[in-house]
Amino acid sequence: MSDPAISIQNVTVRFRPLVDKNPTLRRSIGHLRHREKDEIVALDDVSLTIVKGEAFGVIGSNGAGKSTLLKVIAKTLKPTSGTVNVYGKTSTLLSLGLGMKPELSGRRNVYLGGLAAGLRKAEIDEKFDSIVEYADIGAAINRPVKTYSSGMFSRLAFSVAMAIEPNILLLDEVLAVGDESFRQKSLDTMKGLLENAGTIVFVSHALVNVVDFCDRTMWLDQGRIRMIGPSDEVVETYKAEVTLQK
Ligand SMILES: Nc1ncnc2c1ncn2[C@@H]1O[C@H](COP(=O)(O)OP(=O)(O)OP(=O)(O)O)[C@@H](O)[C@H]1O
Ligand SMILES: [Mg+2]
Repeated sequence: MSDPAISIQNVTVRFRPLVDKNPTLRRSIGHLRHREKDEIVALDDVSLTIVKGEAFGVIGSNGAGKSTLLKVIAKTLKPTSGTVNVYGKTSTLLSLGLGMKPELSGRRNVYLGGLAAGLRKAEIDEKFDSIVEYADIGAAINRPVKTYSSGMFSRLAFSVAMAIEPNILLLDEVLAVGDESFRQKSLDTMKGLLENAGTIVFVSHALVNVVDFCDRTMWLDQGRIRMIGPSDEVVETYKAEVTLQK
C-alpha cells in the first residue's frame, strides 16, 4: 500500500501576466519593473506523496491551484521549480472539452483520444465497441461532439480515459455533470481501479463526494497546502473556515 504513485517535491508554479505582443519601450520597462509584483503564484512550494491504491482528494476555493496541480502531475505543465515523479500510466480528465475536437463525431474523437494516449489503431478498433457501450450515448456517437450535452461529453471522455487502462487517473470536476446512473457506474469503475493498486486524484467542489470517495484529502489555499488528512476532517475544517469568512 505504501509504494508511491506520485511524488512531488517543492513544486512551485508561477504565471507571468499576459505579455503584450507589441510593447512600447515604456511599457516594456514598466513590465520589467512590475513583473515580480504581477506574478501569480499558483503553487507555492508544494510537497506531497500519493501512494498506490489511494484515492486522494483535492479541495479549495476557486483559483487555489487545484487544476494547476493536476496539470503538473499530468506533465502538461512544467513547474517553475521543484520535481514531480509519477510511477505508472496516467489518464487525465482535466476539464470538459479538453482534447476533443468539437466539429468531429464522437466516433472520430474516440480514435483521436486513443491515439493521443498512445494506443495503436488496431487496439482502438478492438476496444471501440466497449468504449461506446460504456459511454452509453446511443446514436449520438456519430454526431459532432459540439452537439453533446455536458453529461454526454463527460461520459465519452471518461470511457476513453478508462479504455487506456491507466494506473493513475486524474479527475478535475468530471463527475459533476454526469447523471446518477453514470455517477454510480463511474464510481464502481474507479473503485475497481483502486483495488488493482491504481491511484486516483480527485479534484472537486462536491465535498460530499470527496468525503465518500477519498481516503485522504488535501486542502489547497492560495497555492499552499493548508491541511492533509482524513477526508472528513479536512472537509469539516475547510467548511468551518468558509462559513467564518462569509
Ligand atoms: N495559464 C495561466 N496563466 C496565468 N495564470 C494562470 C494560468 N492558469 C492558472 N492561472 C492562475 O493560477 C491560479 C490557480 O488556478 P487554478 O486553475 O489552478 O485554480 P483552481 O484551484 O483549479 O480553481 P477552480 O476551483 O476555479 O477550478 C489562479 O490565480 C489562476 O488565475
Ligand atoms: Mg480548476
